[in-house]
Amino acid sequence: MILQVENLTKSYPSAGQQLTVLHEVSFGLQAGDTFAIVGPSGSGKTTLLGLCAGLDRASSGSVRLNGIQLDNLSEDERAAVRNQHVGFIFQNFQLLPTLTALENVQVPLELRGEKNSAQTAQGLLERVGLGQRSHHYPTQLSGGEQQRVSLARAFANRPAILFADEPTGNLDPDTSATVVNLLFELNREAGTTLVLVTHDLELAAQTQRVLRLRGGKVVVENEVIR
Ligand SMILES: Nc1ncnc2c1ncn2[C@@H]1O[C@H](COP(=O)(O)OP(=O)(O)OP(=O)(O)O)[C@@H](O)[C@H]1O
Ligand SMILES: [Mg+2]
Repeated sequence: MILQVENLTKSYPSAGQQLTVLHEVSFGLQAGDTFAIVGPSGSGKTTLLGLCAGLDRASSGSVRLNGIQLDNLSEDERAAVRNQHVGFIFQNFQLLPTLTALENVQVPLELRGEKNSAQTAQGLLERVGLGQRSHHYPTQLSGGEQQRVSLARAFANRPAILFADEPTGNLDPDTSATVVNLLFELNREAGTTLVLVTHDLELAAQTQRVLRLRGGKVVVENEVIR
């Protein structure tokens, strides 16, 4: 199994109490699966994605990613696991503002010591239709363009598993279709496991399985959306 999540719970201290935003969530994915997480705003989708990708630590429960138990790793160890195995497309992109589009895509490649990082990054930007914009800074790009740079960056390491938080949230229908095709192409060509958070039921319907959250709890697993 590429991802095994067991009884995952996340709480935050809030006004002297504990606010539980994710409650005992469990599921497992095989390599190459496509999976959607859906649910209303505030239901815990981004929180769950971040825990699965090792961006954050759970309050209790466990995450096993590509054979690695994440729960007791330090921040640095989790960063190394992410660089090796994980691609992540953030809901708010999280591009580095002082770097150009090209340099943003180069970051994960350089962390790995890849030699032709500029060339590889340029190729990735061309795939998302931004070959002409590689020397622009994030503030010079539209929301949808930043989202596509974020996608190119997430692809850069040819990750075993790609997490995408609302990957089409800021895109027009045509660009959205391009991005969705790219995600599924990567799944087919490289066997990349895809985990998508989306409000777009058409996109969710293209994945093999759907997990529905409400109030931090799983309400339906293996839902079929048609
Ligand atoms: N650091 C934090 N401290 C306190 N509460 C938090 C924190 N981070 C998230 N939350 C709360 O956890 C809940 C789940 O948030 P999350 O971002 O996972 O929702 P979501 O399903 O991704 O929503 P959306 O569809 O709006 O993106 C929300 O009620 C949010 O306010
Ligand atoms: Mg969210």
